[in-house]
Amino acid sequence: MLSQLPQVDCPQLLSQQIPFADAAIYRLDEKQALVQSVDFFTPVVDDPYKYGQIAAANSLSDIFAVGARPLTALNLVAFPLCQLGPEVLQQILAGGAERVAAAGAVIAGGHSIEDDEPKYGLSVTGIVDPRQMVTTCGCQAGDKLLLTKPLGTGILATALKGEVLSEEEISVAIEGMLALNQAAAEVMLQVGVNACTDITGFGLVGHALELAEASQVGLRIAVAALPAYPQALEMAAIGLLPEGLHRNRDYYFTRVDGQAACDRVQLDLLCDPQTSGGLLLAVSPERADRLCQQLAERGVAAYPVGEVIAEQIGRLQLVAR
Ligand code: CO
Repeated sequence: MLSQLPQVDCPQLLSQQIPFADAAIYRLDEKQALVQSVDFFTPVVDDPYKYGQIAAANSLSDIFAVGARPLTALNLVAFPLCQLGPEVLQQILAGGAERVAAAGAVIAGGHSIEDDEPKYGLSVTGIVDPRQMVTTCGCQAGDKLLLTKPLGTGILATALKGEVLSEEEISVAIEGMLALNQAAAEVMLQVGVNACTDITGFGLVGHALELAEASQVGLRIAVAALPAYPQALEMAAIGLLPEGLHRNRDYYFTRVDGQAACDRVQLDLLCDPQTSGGLLLAVSPERADRLCQQLAERGVAAYPVGEVIAEQIGRLQLVAR
């Protein structure tokens, strides 16, 4: 659909040169670029405060993925005020404000409308030094691929909606979703990585393919090494799969080799759409240990999920075992 729109040609719009850029990046001068991102969605958990926190962490994630620092955020609210009342909305906004403050940014305003189904998210503005920003296009053959959060939030949210699991039972995933990607991004800038993107609605499969295509490389993914939140594989095994997982599989699997040797639940995890997922980092083998060590010091996980290869450009090669 977007390709039908008139093409803009704006040299300051650096993100235009970056395929699948996580955020809009607009150069102000040699040392500064404005970074903008927007996201919102319907509740993934019942607790309104946690929903607000998760939506905010998710909206901030694209800013962190490019190595930028968030400055201001605007609330985007659609809400059935008559049915749910002002207290619920207040809790959602308080959760969002808490995460924005934790990120060192400030809520500068917002906009709300009446709607039958609640929706919440943020438009975030940040700043980055364009010489230091991290993009999707820098993967080099031999790079290690590290993921900073487990997978399975889409599957678990489906189990929660279906009342198969309680909010308590998915608490590890909830804590994971509301965790900011900020510490991971700071370490990535300190150590230096070749490429980065955050894992959201297209799942690991979609966002990994974006890296592969943008960098003109192939990615080898070790599916047995994919980290899962507690209960996610069990829920996938009994077929509790979100609609978006099927869409991701249908759309992306023509560019994925080695599926036949993999377990079905591993493929489900690969395709599961994530809410506020982790960063997928491509780092040179020389820097990988230092990156893992510094991430651990900041309390951030670094799951090795594969490596960059020179062959099979724009494709994923799955390795079972
Ligand atoms: Co993103």
